[in-house]
Amino acid sequence: MNEETTFKPCDLVIFGALGDLSRRKLLISLYRLEKANLIEPETRVIGIDRFEGDAAGFIETVHKSLQEFLNEPVDELVWLQYSARFSYLKIDLTRLDEYQVLNTVIDGKSRVMVNYFAVAPFLFTNICQGLAQCGVLNEESRMVMEKPIGHDLKSSIAINDAVAEVFSEKQSYRIDHYLGKETVLNLLALRFANSIFTTNWNHNTIDHIQITVAEEVGIEGRWEYFDKTGQLRDMLQNHLLQILTFVAMEPPVNLQAQSIHNEKIKVLAALRPITKENVELKTVRGLYTAGEIKGKQVPGYLEEEGANTESTTESFVALKVAIDNWRWAGVPFYLRTGKRMTYKRTEIVVNFKQLPHNIFKESFTDLPSNKLIIHLQPNEGVEIQILNKIPGIDENIKLQKTKLDLSFFDTFKNSKIFGGYEKLVLEAMRGNPTLFLSREEIEQAWTWVDSIQDAWAHIDAAPKPYPAGTWGPDDADDLIARDQRAWEE
Ligand code: BG6
Repeated sequence: MNEETTFKPCDLVIFGALGDLSRRKLLISLYRLEKANLIEPETRVIGIDRFEGDAAGFIETVHKSLQEFLNEPVDELVWLQYSARFSYLKIDLTRLDEYQVLNTVIDGKSRVMVNYFAVAPFLFTNICQGLAQCGVLNEESRMVMEKPIGHDLKSSIAINDAVAEVFSEKQSYRIDHYLGKETVLNLLALRFANSIFTTNWNHNTIDHIQITVAEEVGIEGRWEYFDKTGQLRDMLQNHLLQILTFVAMEPPVNLQAQSIHNEKIKVLAALRPITKENVELKTVRGLYTAGEIKGKQVPGYLEEEGANTESTTESFVALKVAIDNWRWAGVPFYLRTGKRMTYKRTEIVVNFKQLPHNIFKESFTDLPSNKLIIHLQPNEGVEIQILNKIPGIDENIKLQKTKLDLSFFDTFKNSKIFGGYEKLVLEAMRGNPTLFLSREEIEQAWTWVDSIQDAWAHIDAAPKPYPAGTWGPDDADDLIARDQRAWEE
């Protein structure tokens, strides 16, 4: 994955440095990278926001954020090294003349300018224009942007067009933080470095695949944003489809960005459209009502602070997806994701086919099939469910379901498992685009998601209620039960 990799120091410019994303994720991830000695010594961090302030004020805010979001005490030696990188500039991002101030700090000769857009997408165009106008960019400069990149295909094209006026595709790094997660990357290793999986990864041996991204959290003070978005756009359009592409893609020629992007695009293009004729059979929309999570009462979506009680936005979605290509013909992918579910769990379950004949009827009338379970979070690991003989000298061979369990934590005790953001911010600074999304991927994903959104609008489907703390509405169980299958619980 090292194409074009550069370890030249960076000027990492964070637009929206005092905002939520920056304080909760970005600056925390950078601290962890600092602690692991992974940031180039000469790299600087330049915070930009619309509030009056100076480096000292910014440093104080970052320290407070670390205390709030780090989940471990701040190491003061690391902090000294980290905070020495900071400076702060006040820019009203909507005023193009204010960007000139960047010329006082940016050093385009000895550092690569990495512009991180940690702001709402409506500001992306302004930032691009401001940067172009003040003349700080050069061919090495990059931009990093976060989802949501649009609300649908049309708005996504508008954002990408505006960015493309200033940054070439090669300079554009679109983040999906799931692609930085250790287990998502391990899918490449699992699939393309182990012959037991390379030869068995298709419709001949696999019965169906489930992808679950269950969240315990609710809306977390983002009701207005979330209500305009919904779980389909917030989680499925990006994170679940990205996981799906890694599970389903053909072997890439190599690990370079272009090869991986090409294979992912082919999967997205092969997703069978969901139409108004079949949307009720293929999808379920849900909305959480009040309930209990880990012994604590939590309000329903419509009772959250700032809620509009007339809302019909979904907080849960389950889908049956078909991939129309040679490898996956006849293999359904069941996807589900929701807020306020029983507990946080992200996993992929690959269900292999049942054997055609059972010679162990003493133990099982119906021989259970093998499963490969990839735990993405929490407790990253891989598990294979197999049948084993129970030791003993009985007349009959007795079988029991057992598992081969590879917990990353137990197996790789000495390797630190970093979160998705750390990995991706580092790759953006190094200039390695492999784990970022291409424009074409995003637009292909929107095309498919728009078809679902349109079909829902057509049938006017109200979301089905489910109590917080459960695995979603009963309709999601029916969706898979119609095929004589069940969700992995
Ligand atoms: C974000 C969504 O992209 O991912 C949030 O906007 C969601 O709504 C979050 O909670 C989940 O991320 P993770 O890494 O906690 O699974």
